Amino acid sequence: MKNYINVENGKNLDLLKIAATSIQNGNLILMPTETVYGLGADGLNENAVKKIFEAKGRKQDNPLILHISDMKMLDTIACNISQLEKTLMEKFWPGPLTIILNRKKIVPDIVTGGLDTVGVRMPSNLVANKIIALSSTPIAAPSANISGRPSGTNIDDISDELSQKVETIVDDGMCDIGLESTVIRVVNNSVIILRPGKITKEDLEKYCDDVIVDKHILNKLDDNVKVLSPGMKYRHYAPNAKCILVYSDNNTKLIEKICEISKEYISPVIISTSENVNAYKNNTKVKNILDIGHRKNLDEISKNIFTYLRKVDTYLPDIVIIEGVKKEGLGLAIMNRLLRACEYNIIEV
Ligand code: TXA
Ligand code: MG
Repeated sequence: MKNYINVENGKNLDLLKIAATSIQNGNLILMPTETVYGLGADGLNENAVKKIFEAKGRKQDNPLILHISDMKMLDTIACNISQLEKTLMEKFWPGPLTIILNRKKIVPDIVTGGLDTVGVRMPSNLVANKIIALSSTPIAAPSANISGRPSGTNIDDISDELSQKVETIVDDGMCDIGLESTVIRVVNNSVIILRPGKITKEDLEKYCDDVIVDKHILNKLDDNVKVLSPGMKYRHYAPNAKCILVYSDNNTKLIEKICEISKEYISPVIISTSENVNAYKNNTKVKNILDIGHRKNLDEISKNIFTYLRKVDTYLPDIVIIEGVKKEGLGLAIMNRLLRACEYNIIEV
């Protein structure tokens, strides 16, 4: 890393031109967005985008999202935009919604994994918007993490794995949302959710009568099944330790089950909601009980998830037991990430 710029609380914004220069010179940056940090490069420069795949160890068939700062930029990369897509852009952009659109030829194959579509989003984070605008090019940016690892929601979590691979780091503190954007595709007049996020099924239903949650969001893929979004195929968000997800509609049963499982192991870690921390303290010998946030405040939980999935490994646990939440609203996105972190190892009681 050559340049480190701290823009927390709106300071040093004039230094963002350094980040834009890195982009224009075909180099990589770490940049904030409202969802998670991105590993950014000039999305129209094939050689620059290649560096993203190398730095992450990412499979070539897994396409990248292009980040834009205004609607003029959209015109340069996507075409045949439908009325429903336009409405969703109006309602949710700038913000954590990625829409899969028909691509224009200018978008290099390496960005789209050879598909005839391109994922586009306009971030609401002001720093992100400014970097893109100053760069005058769409920025290709996957989540900032080595492939398979939990996404990065603050610079501290990811500097070990990525700082040596980028020219500029833009540090804007903790990301507001903490989970990656909702990814959708419009087919005829239906919206298909390919990756759940802060923009929920219920939010989208206000503008479309038919919102479908792709079945792969909560179910393991069979080998060789064809998917609408290549990212669904890959192991993701996983700590090194073995993890198990436990869910029940009944909180007493949930606590009992987690206490029972914890007794089968020597060095378990529990990721608990705030409400249940004391129950585990009083009823188990587990030393490391991490409080992920209040069950009633899913925003708090989503903001903490990736940091905690990274932190658990520092305790060298033989099992990580994670409390699940209801798969409704933002809970669907939380459970999608947790299921994948646990490699679909879930007990429901
Ligand atoms: O919030 C986010 O979306 C973050 C920030 C940095 O913007 N980015 C992010 O990118 O999460 P990434 O690359 O980690 O995840 C993008 C997902 C992948 O699952 C990929 O397969 C899917 O979007 N995707 C991208 N382009 C696609 C396309 N043309 N068709 C289908 N799926 C696509
Ligand atoms: Mg990712």
